Parts: sequence; C-alpha cells; structure tokens
Amino acid sequence: MMDWTDRHCRYFMRLLSRNALLYTEMVTTGALLHGDRERFLRHDVAEYPLALQLGGSVPDELAACARLAEEAGYQEVNLNVGCPSDRVQNNMIGACLMAHPGRVAECVKAMQDAVSIPVTVKHRIGINGRDSYAELCDFVGQVSAAGCRSFTVHARIAILEGLSPKENREVPPLRYDVAAQLKQDFPALEIILNGGIKTLEECQRHLQTFDGVMLGREAYHNPYLLAQVDTQLFGEHGAVLSRLDAMQAMRPYIEAHLADGGSLHHITRHMLGLAQGFKGARRFRQLLSVDIHKTDNPLDLFDQAAQLLQGH
Ligand SMILES: Cc1cc2nc3c(=O)[nH]c(=O)nc-3n(C[C@H](O)[C@H](O)[C@H](O)COP(=O)(O)O)c2cc1C
Repeated sequence: MMDWTDRHCRYFMRLLSRNALLYTEMVTTGALLHGDRERFLRHDVAEYPLALQLGGSVPDELAACARLAEEAGYQEVNLNVGCPSDRVQNNMIGACLMAHPGRVAECVKAMQDAVSIPVTVKHRIGINGRDSYAELCDFVGQVSAAGCRSFTVHARIAILEGLSPKENREVPPLRYDVAAQLKQDFPALEIILNGGIKTLEECQRHLQTFDGVMLGREAYHNPYLLAQVDTQLFGEHGAVLSRLDAMQAMRPYIEAHLADGGSLHHITRHMLGLAQGFKGARRFRQLLSVDIHKTDNPLDLFDQAAQLLQGH
C-alpha cells in the first residue's frame, strides 16, 4: 500500500507473522527503470516471503522490472490492475487496464517469459462502463490464458471518474458473491479475496471459498491481528508473540536505523496501531507520533511506550 507498506512497516509485520505474504507499495516501471532503483528495491531478507508490486502497461518495461525484482530476491511479482488514481490512469497504470485485457495479457506473458518467480495480478471486479460479470470473465480468461495462475480480487468495482482513491475503497459496494462466482468458474486458478476483511474469523470463513485472503487497512491499523495468523490460519503450533515482545523485537532494528542517521518516526509511524483497544493506547500514540519529534533520546521514549504495553 502506497506510503504505508514501506520496508520498515514490512519488517515490523514480519515479526508478527512468519507466513503471511507481504507486498511492497506499488512501484511504477518508470520509477524503477529511470529513478532511484536501489531505493525502490531495497528490503531486508527478514521480510520474506515478499512480493514486489509493479504498476505499468508496457510489456518490455514490465519484463525488465520483473527481472530486477527476481534478481533482487523477491519471491513474487504482482501487477497492479486495481489502483483508480487519476495520476496513474493518465499513464495507463492500475484499474483503467481492466478495459484492456489483451494488453494486460501481453504484459503478464512478457513478465513470465522474463522470470521464474510467480507473476500475479491484483484487480477489481470491474470499472465503470465495464462492470458486467461477462467482462470480468473475459479479463480473467485472457490474462490466465497468458499464464497467470493467481488473481487477487478487490471485490468492488472502481469508478474512474469522480471518486477519490479513498472513496474508491469505500463507496462501490463489496461483492464477495462475484468473486466467489469467479472461483467457481475458474476452479484451477488461485483466487485471493480482498476488500473489507477485518477479523481472522472472517478470513477462516472466506478460506472455505477462496484460496487466500488479503488484508489491507485492517492489517495496517490493527497490526497485532497478524500475531495470530500463523496459528489460526497456517495451522502452526507455538506461543503467540505479545505486543511487548513485538516492541522489544523491533528495538535492534530501530537502533541500527538510528545509527544509520534515520529517524525513529520513520519506523514507529507504522507501529501506532499496536496498542489499539488499550487504556494506554492514546498515550502510546502520543509518545510515538508527537513527543517523538521533541526528544533528544528517541530510544528512551520508545522504551517508555513499550512499558505501556506491559501485561497486554
Ligand atoms: C493508503 C493505501 C494505499 C494503497 N496502495 C495500494 C497499492 O499500492 N497497490 C494496491 O494494489 N493496492 C493499494 N491499496 C488498496 C489495498 O491494497 C486494498 O485493495 C484495499 O484497501 C481494500 O482492502 P482492505 O479493505 O483490506 O483495505 C491501498 C490502500 C490504502 C488504504
């Protein structure tokens, strides 16, 4: 998720679940091929399994970027066909590509020919003017014929004019039934459900129909949800990390980041949700998002925040 799932966020989330597949923010082919490549690909092997999400629509460029992703160590490369922002539409990136299934198929084919890691697609169930089930099947049919085996379906349409990206995550109704029909009609494909999922109980329910679930906003705002994923969804046995354990496990990473000249806020901004639901939650957020800018001793402040989680 843009501006959210940067490498610090992913490092933190990985401490909470060993198995959940994590995704980068979307990186455009232009940024990767002509921008600060090292910055866009940078990650820690501790974040694995990790997918790089690409935005683009030129097959050769996407193929070159997929190769970079594979060389950099990513386990999967994902093509974004779901982002509704105007900025990306002008460059033929994101959800507008749902109107061009042939082009998406060419992109996927070029990427697959270039790498041996899986090439996957994240998309909507339609866009305005192209929101029939037949058109969705045409899209998935053409893209799967090009070799894509895994589709992550954000189960609402995107409205490409008049709604902000935020509204496009809230206003068009969720249609899990449409995504379920897709799984029924394409049983050999991996269909992963996304959109509005908030609890592991819901995940378990959806996993009876779908091959996987993807959580966006809830995982970010309530990251401790991830602490139970390995036991509840992946069938692992063992102790669940406490919130305090998670804080303490982040400390060496934070120390290294500070020693490198980084600021504590770069990391803790992704951890504010860790205290969600507790009496000390406001104080926790205050320490890590406001007081943090006024202190000379960020680690001391971090430890104070950690103390608020004692016993939870
Ligand atoms: C701040 C923010 C940034 C996002 N950036 C991306 C992105 O880069 N790529 C993408 O495929 N989806 C992106 N999304 C959409 C989410 O991946 C997800 O599809 C959407 O929020 C619905 O799932 P949820 O209800 O679990 O959040 C973003 C969402 C948010 C809130």
